[in-house]
Amino acid sequence: MKFICLTFLIIYGITDSRSEQYEVVGFVDPVFAVAGEDVILPCSVKPSISVEDMRVEWFRSDLKDSQLVHLYEDHEDGNAEQIESYRGRTELTHQELERGNASLRLSSVRVSDEGRYKCFIQSKSWYDDVTVDVSVEAVGRPPVITVDGFDDSGGLHLQCDSEGWNPEPVLEWLNREGVRLSSETTETHRNTDGFSVRHTITVYERNSKIHCRIRLRHHMLETQIITSNKRFNPGRTSIILISAVFVLVVIAGMLIAACVRKNRELGQLNNENRKIEREHDDLQKEKSRMQQECGRLQNVRSRIQQEFSSEHDQLEQEKSRIQQEMKTGKEDK
Ligand SMILES: *[C@@H]1O[C@H](CO)[C@@H](O)[C@H](O)[C@H]1NC(C)=O
Repeated sequence: MKFICLTFLIIYGITDSRSEQYEVVGFVDPVFAVAGEDVILPCSVKPSISVEDMRVEWFRSDLKDSQLVHLYEDHEDGNAEQIESYRGRTELTHQELERGNASLRLSSVRVSDEGRYKCFIQSKSWYDDVTVDVSVEAVGRPPVITVDGFDDSGGLHLQCDSEGWNPEPVLEWLNREGVRLSSETTETHRNTDGFSVRHTITVYERNSKIHCRIRLRHHMLETQIITSNKRFNPGRTSIILISAVFVLVVIAGMLIAACVRKNRELGQLNNENRKIEREHDDLQKEKSRMQQECGRLQNVRSRIQQEFSSEHDQLEQEKSRIQQEMKTGKEDK
């Protein structure tokens, strides 16, 4: 399409040299935009003629795939093919088009709007374009300092994070006197939201203020942390730990001793119990032996009683026999 136009233009140019007087102009310098604010991307035809009947196309020449930012054609805006992220944020002032002004208003600028734009204007008889570079300045979030632990030598590990900057900001650590401290590790990531930075440092100063400062041109954001003069002494921690362990060992020892003593007492009681049981058995045996003896003695007694009573009977018989004899003796006399 452009090729056909170009061919057409060359042919037209030969026949009508008047069209060569027109050119599309913008800014030589890049346009600075501030994230969140609106920006005008300048583009106009010189000398000024109305572009109302022309085709005005704004596109991103630095992007590979879809490139359309804003299209004006057949007296109206046609943004069906527009890049998604520009939806509802672009505007051409139609009165200005009459004056040859095809500047694009881009509202609530984002970091992702940074890049190279082309303003392409085409009439039946000619076309031209101009490149407009846009750089976006975004002031990020205030830095956040995180205490990321301490080491054996009492050093305090600090980490400072901040995100949403564009272009890349400068992050630095400062002590109470404002002297720069060099970061241990530095990380920078870039996404559509801008740059995020993370620096770490190990601090040995006590009772001091440490600042994390982020600068971008004349913008500056800062956060501070106050390190206490209490040492994060790992020695003390281990003493506390050792004491705790010692106390635990002592308690455990006492418990074990108590258990052992209880066990020993229990054993003694058991022994005692067994002895008593044994004695009880002995006594039982003695008792049954006594009972046997008692039974035997009773037998003896009853036997003696029997003997005695039979003796008695014999004697009684003897006695009555003698009395009988005496009676008969008297009668004989
Ligand atoms: C072109 O139009 C824009 C608004 O779309 C305006 O801000 C700008 O001042 C105009 N430029 C000139 C040179 O008139």
